Amino acid sequence: MKHLSDNEKDTSRIAAALAEDLQPGNVLLLHGTLGMGKTVFARALIRALTGRPDIDVPSPTFTLVQTYDGLICPIYHYDLYRIEHPEEIFELGWDDALADGITIVEWPDRLGSYKPRLSLDITLSNADNDPNKREILIETNA
Ligand SMILES: Nc1ncnc2c1ncn2[C@@H]1O[C@H](COP(=O)(O)OP(=O)(O)OP(=O)(O)O)[C@@H](O)[C@H]1O
Ligand SMILES: [Mg+2]
Repeated sequence: MKHLSDNEKDTSRIAAALAEDLQPGNVLLLHGTLGMGKTVFARALIRALTGRPDIDVPSPTFTLVQTYDGLICPIYHYDLYRIEHPEEIFELGWDDALADGITIVEWPDRLGSYKPRLSLDITLSNADNDPNKREILIETNA
């Protein structure tokens, strides 16, 4: 499914709509270059999944992972940009996340061979040469 987003609010709305279809065990891989809106998308997902529209959702740039108590299960938000070896994910709660959480991953290429076979792949890219527009492609290989 391909969406066009005109601004940050649009992107948040698209993410919140997707949140309604999620269940424990789902893995969402957020693709896209620096500043494309991966954290914006993840923030709206997490706010919907926690039922807390005002909850602070910082980028896990340095912490690498942030966890949240979701309404149906724990939520794990990863930003793997700074990991050096894929194995580092196992020190970041990866097995627990896959077992009973909803897992959201920025920079999923860093997972290497640990990329789950079943995932929702979300790709954000520029659109129309407009700095505020994004194409958001949501693909499932589950
Ligand atoms: N249509 C849009 N959707 C999402 N963000 C947008 C849009 N238009 C402009 N922006 C802006 O783009 C920026 C996206 O930042 P964000 O931190 O979400 O990117 P990111 O992909 O997570 O980057 P990083 O790779 O550094 O983690 C924000 O400043 C946001 O306001
Ligand atoms: Mg980010």
